[in-house]
Amino acid sequence: MSGFVEKPEPLQVPGLVHLHTGKVRELYRNEAGDLVMVASDRMSAYDWVLPTEIPDKGRVLTQLSLWWFDRLADLIPNHVISTELPEGAPAEWEGRTLVCRSLRMIPVECVARGYLTGSGLVEYEANRTVCGLALPEGLVDGSELPAPIFTPATKAAVGEHDENVSYEEVARQVGAETAAQLRQSTLAVYSRARDVARDRGIILADTKFEFGHDEAGGLVLADEVLTPDSSRFWPAAEWEPGRAQSSYDKQFVRDWLTSPASGWDRHSEQPPPPLPREVVEATRAKYVEAYELLTGTAW
Ligand SMILES: Nc1ncnc2c1ncn2[C@@H]1O[C@H](COP(=O)(O)OP(=O)(O)OP(=O)(O)O)[C@@H](O)[C@H]1O
Ligand SMILES: [Mg+2]
Repeated sequence: MSGFVEKPEPLQVPGLVHLHTGKVRELYRNEAGDLVMVASDRMSAYDWVLPTEIPDKGRVLTQLSLWWFDRLADLIPNHVISTELPEGAPAEWEGRTLVCRSLRMIPVECVARGYLTGSGLVEYEANRTVCGLALPEGLVDGSELPAPIFTPATKAAVGEHDENVSYEEVARQVGAETAAQLRQSTLAVYSRARDVARDRGIILADTKFEFGHDEAGGLVLADEVLTPDSSRFWPAAEWEPGRAQSSYDKQFVRDWLTSPASGWDRHSEQPPPPLPREVVEATRAKYVEAYELLTGTAW
């Protein structure tokens, strides 16, 4: 079992048509035909959208994405049109709302990895490859790769795992030219971001981008970028290959959910329980810390 513990009821705003409830974002279309993306404070873990929100999380994700979009603008166009609140939107939407170009999304999760961990590590341990790419012997959990790699995945529905696919499979699905552009842009953006993060004492282990095509067929960077939800950030000072690295975001939540204190068995059919206040507070602090460390400005 997985999915939403409690299915959220999207807010209705006159002049906006509600299109979609994502795990984290609500999508609307405005009268100009643009997309209005509102990041909620919802949090997901172990394929569940949890019943407890993390206050300000959606604002942190939105502001961090905006900060990165600015720093990447010379590499690739992005989907942001403005941060102006649509007329009639609640004050609660302030800071978490983006008006974006409505794109034809390319159904590939464009993952770049500079370090080995997670599903990449699992595949590497089985056959010394990640997404079919051969890697050298001797790498362990947290090792830096010889060079960043493009490890695409298919986009799964809420409650399902994304599945790693080979580059050839992506080329079959979206065409060779688009696949090549996705790989090139993903690696270029990752490499820029990795260097920016490194200067601030943060390792960008891996990250996921989503791209779309605009009306002219140009490739545009969409969705959120380089947030703790879409990336693994590790404190560089604590980096030690050979063990699981502590991460900036969901560690408290994951640790608590899998501890006896939660009373929850993640392999059961039961939905996860609400988070205790300490876990919510600690998690919020981690999101804020990631924002402050990366941007160098106080939240
Ligand atoms: N510029 C854009 N044009 C069209 N769709 C976009 C754009 N930017 C992001 N999206 C889509 O908006 C949604 C963002 O919502 P969210 O991240 O909460 O969803 P998700 O759980 O990742 O995926 P899903 O929508 O499948 O539930 C994603 O489906 C993403 O592909
Ligand atoms: Mg998403």
